[in-house]
Amino acid sequence: MDTGSVYKGKVLVAGATGRTGSWVVRRLLHYGVPVRVLSRSEEKARELFGDRVEVAVGKIQDKEDVARAVEGCQAVISALGSSALSGDSSPAEVDRDGAIRLMDEAVKAGATHFAMVSSIAVTKWFHPLNLFGGVLTMKLAAEEHLRKVFGQDDRSYTIIRPGGLKDGEPLQHRLQVDQGDRIWNGWTNRSDVAELAVLSLWVAKARRRTFEVVSDAPEPQQSLEGCYDKLHD
Ligand SMILES: NC(=O)c1ccc[n+]([C@@H]2O[C@H](COP(=O)([O-])OP(=O)(O)OC[C@H]3O[C@@H](n4cnc5c(N)ncnc54)[C@H](OP(=O)(O)O)[C@@H]3O)[C@@H](O)[C@H]2O)c1
Repeated sequence: MDTGSVYKGKVLVAGATGRTGSWVVRRLLHYGVPVRVLSRSEEKARELFGDRVEVAVGKIQDKEDVARAVEGCQAVISALGSSALSGDSSPAEVDRDGAIRLMDEAVKAGATHFAMVSSIAVTKWFHPLNLFGGVLTMKLAAEEHLRKVFGQDDRSYTIIRPGGLKDGEPLQHRLQVDQGDRIWNGWTNRSDVAELAVLSLWVAKARRRTFEVVSDAPEPQQSLEGCYDKLHD
């Protein structure tokens, strides 16, 4: 496949040095898509990706850092995730406010697509996961903002809601997808989440979709593109 012709724009990856985000970067590079990463640490980004990506050093809390990072990018993939109950890495700061800042700056910069890694159970405020700083509620607020700002004009979004995340190679399992937040448990490989996010850049049926995804039986997959055939608005 002439992958260079599949998606020509540059893609900003936020949360790129994280476990899902680094798979997003690897899969983008696999398809020959130019990548810029937003990272708090140039050293960490270079250690992971060498000189195969552009690095925009900055904090998700800083509007100017975010604006600079997204300038000239056609699309954004966000695998941001909070890691502390309070402070700079809390769910309110990262999963809600940071993600929303990134969406708003992406619109201003003229980006046309935004893919976001969210979570199953995001609409269930009473789910035990929400005990961690209201993380599900914060992600839902970001999702709602994304559907609003990238669901109009010529823009599109894809919201991927995985189950519990695991590590491993992509394309090794059949995937179960659903809509309406009806899946209560299950797990998903980070690498498959990354692959779905990357495919959303050029698969038309991924546009303006929100869906849950969990792994099914092990079975090598040629492509995950078919997951998008099963979705509706
Ligand atoms: N864990 C699960 O089972 C599970 C289930 C469903 C959904 N999810 C969601 O899936 C997503 C990816 O999860 P993961 O396990 O791959 O996450 P991860 O490895 O913890 O990576 C999170 C990323 O967010 C970045 N980040 C955190 N605070 C930041 C800040 N203040 N400014 C800028 N960047 C910041 C981290 O940067 P550094 O590398 O600099 O730390 C890292 O790149 C998250 O949104 C998570 O909530 C997780």
